[in-house]
Amino acid sequence: MIIAVDGPLASGKGTIARALADHFGLPHLDTGSLYRATGLAVIEAGIDPADAGACARLAAQLDLAAIDEDRIRTAEAGAMASRVAAIPQVREALFDLQRTFATQPGGAILDGRDIGTVICPDAEVKLFVTADAETRARRRWEELRAKGEALSFETMLEQTRERDARDAERTDAPMKPADDATLLDTSSLSIDAAVATAIRIVEKRQKA
Ligand code: DC
Repeated sequence: MIIAVDGPLASGKGTIARALADHFGLPHLDTGSLYRATGLAVIEAGIDPADAGACARLAAQLDLAAIDEDRIRTAEAGAMASRVAAIPQVREALFDLQRTFATQPGGAILDGRDIGTVICPDAEVKLFVTADAETRARRRWEELRAKGEALSFETMLEQTRERDARDAERTDAPMKPADDATLLDTSSLSIDAAVATAIRIVEKRQKA
């Protein structure tokens, strides 16, 4: 069984995907971390993000095991991730890795923006997790503040809206729910309630 979990920044998709992976005993890949690691590599190498070829070469050289989970979670790496994610050659360089992970025997869970539409259009279960922009900005702002990153809520809200627009408006694999995805709005749900709802959706699909 392949489970695709897509949605915008801080919608809760990562938390839900990890909880589903635990519950159903499936391996999980956070595909945003691939774009974040590529973004971080671009920053560190001092490469111009407009240089599509150079960005794609860095994406192709990514070593999953060497991704530094802390350093890719900064606002800076996230913003650069969103920029490099708009480059078709970068997306192509990361395609096989995601596809191989998705098609391993026994199934897998992947979360991202284009899993249900591009990476795994054949997934048995597709969830599109959303929440309103203010709620998502607040979640992300609290997370970053807890890690010592100082920025105002207004800046975070503005960045969230910019990121949504860039992810949704790019021509290659834009963020959008697959036609057969189930929408899950977490704006007024606790984490536990959101996870329980997601588990019910998967179980219903399994029985269908
Ligand atoms: O989910 P996240 O915030 O860690 O993702 C970082 C960026 O990567 C996001 O702005 C869009 C991009 N991304 C993508 O284009 N496709 C994916 N499958 C996952 C992430």
